[in-house]
Amino acid sequence: MTQQIFIAGLLKDRVAFVTGGGTGITGGVARALAEAGAGVALVSRQIDHLEPAAAVINEQGGRAFAVAADVRNPDEVAKAIAATVEHFGKIDIVVNGAAGNFLCPADQLSPNGFGSVVDIDLKGTFNVCRAAFEELKQHRGQILNISATLHYLGTPMQLHVSAAKAGVDALTRNLAVEWGRHGIRVNAIAPGPIADTEGMKRLVPEPIKEKLRQRIPLGRFGLIKDIENAAVFICSDAANFINGAVLVVDGGHWLAANRLL
Ligand code: HXC
Repeated sequence: MTQQIFIAGLLKDRVAFVTGGGTGITGGVARALAEAGAGVALVSRQIDHLEPAAAVINEQGGRAFAVAADVRNPDEVAKAIAATVEHFGKIDIVVNGAAGNFLCPADQLSPNGFGSVVDIDLKGTFNVCRAAFEELKQHRGQILNISATLHYLGTPMQLHVSAAKAGVDALTRNLAVEWGRHGIRVNAIAPGPIADTEGMKRLVPEPIKEKLRQRIPLGRFGLIKDIENAAVFICSDAANFINGAVLVVDGGHWLAANRLL
């Protein structure tokens, strides 16, 4: 589908460093960037998630490389960046998709539980951006952060993730201004409810799924493919003047959560 929408080789000669690139939404984004011609480094804590994902891309004619790193650890991130540059010669796209989540009411959330999610989602995003800066500057590259819509309204049981993703949006806008001067574009995608994801399985209880679907103006859950297509667009030259945007891909869901319904 990606190749039917986008011209073949749209991202050829690009190299993407994709955290959380082994599974879920960002796994799809990594595959889509590879289908569009980019070399992709798949980065997460667990190499056993990454190697099968890299193998699938390579078997389908793409270029993928798996490297283990915990985004919470700046030394591991620096080593993963260096390993990617050694493997592919450069990095000109960074996708920050590594994330952690669980449902927990705020009054039961431990400081370490709150901190763990902020460490992965927000500080991990910063660690990767910071470590990739010189590479991105050299190649006038770009950053794509995977955010959320949870913090646009108060989302129960999601204080920790909402706070972290609000920080990711702030980081996106600040870096767009500071690093835009170096030709680096910094944008985010905020996915709404996406079917067949770990987030959906673990965070949306089965009995409320149908109710949730009915509240989405387009009448369906998103597909990982919807996020892939948005990501390929943002990473392509078609988006050359888009900087500091948080592109909401949610079928209009959060706008429909108004006080009259
Ligand atoms: C309450 C919990 C908890 C739970 C963990 N904690 N799970 N608290 N309810 N269900 C608390 C622990 O008790 C501990 O605090 C602290 O969080 C750290 O837990 P650890 O297991 O030691 O941490 P770690 O192994 O680093 O795991 C991090 C994690 C975990 C975030 C807690 O869930 C994780 O690694 N997830 C990665 C994969 C993932 O979640 N993917 C889904 C992303 S979906 P104490 O005080 O006990 O020490 C997504 C979608 C967002 O992001 C948008 C949704 C719509």
